[in-house]
Amino acid sequence: MAQVRLDKFISERTEYSRSQIKELAAKGRISLDGCPVKRSDVKIDPDTASVSVCGQELRTERFRYILLNKPQGYVCSTDDRDGDTVMKLIPPEMRTKGMFPAGRLDKDSMGALLLTDDGELAHRMLSPRRHIPKVYIVKLDRPFENNYVNKFSEGLTLADGETCLPAHVKKAENSDNLAFVELHEGKYHQVKRMFASVGNHVEVLMRVSLGALVLPEKLAIGQCMELLHKDVENLFKPQDFDLFCHRFSAVFSANLINNLL
Ligand code: URA
Repeated sequence: MAQVRLDKFISERTEYSRSQIKELAAKGRISLDGCPVKRSDVKIDPDTASVSVCGQELRTERFRYILLNKPQGYVCSTDDRDGDTVMKLIPPEMRTKGMFPAGRLDKDSMGALLLTDDGELAHRMLSPRRHIPKVYIVKLDRPFENNYVNKFSEGLTLADGETCLPAHVKKAENSDNLAFVELHEGKYHQVKRMFASVGNHVEVLMRVSLGALVLPEKLAIGQCMELLHKDVENLFKPQDFDLFCHRFSAVFSANLINNLL
């Protein structure tokens, strides 16, 4: 493979400009194959070099895929004029210039959010024709009622007359006020509006899976992690909803949500 300049390699994979990269190198914050490099204009083989910036190893792959456990209070946007955006939660060495949130969660919602610079994958993931299933755990104001199961599976009609595709809903095993919902579409405030249409109210909402990509228990709220290619493939794999709800540790889900209140 043709050699490329170290600063070009880094600037394509992070948000750092070439002058910032030069400064970081001078401060010993950039290493090549395990050793600090003082100059950022050296040539490297992009296929074999191992490059770290501020202790974070950069990937050789073209695109980056970051899974964020979104906290409340951040908007899914790249535009600072919208308020505090989820981009602020991604460390600069993990961010790239073209990165954006692939999908939306409300400002007061939490959980699994993919950020990537791979526009083709985001398009595939968000396409209404494919619409990958997404599972949410919700804390309800009033106890779950068993009649929700049929109502959700028949396709609810929302207050404004909009109709929803059939959806799965299930009470969590350890609480009357926690429930899992699986949707195959993404209307505005959909989960909140669905529960409102059956006379309940969503107090807390957290997305816990995108396809078969499950939010890892160890990923604390506000933290993010780099995904491997095989994790990204899980986005497009199916998952058994009942099994998922059972496996998704009830203790984890209850603690997670209750601790926030
Ligand atoms: N449904 C909602 O109501 N809010 C979200 O953030 C996601 C799904």
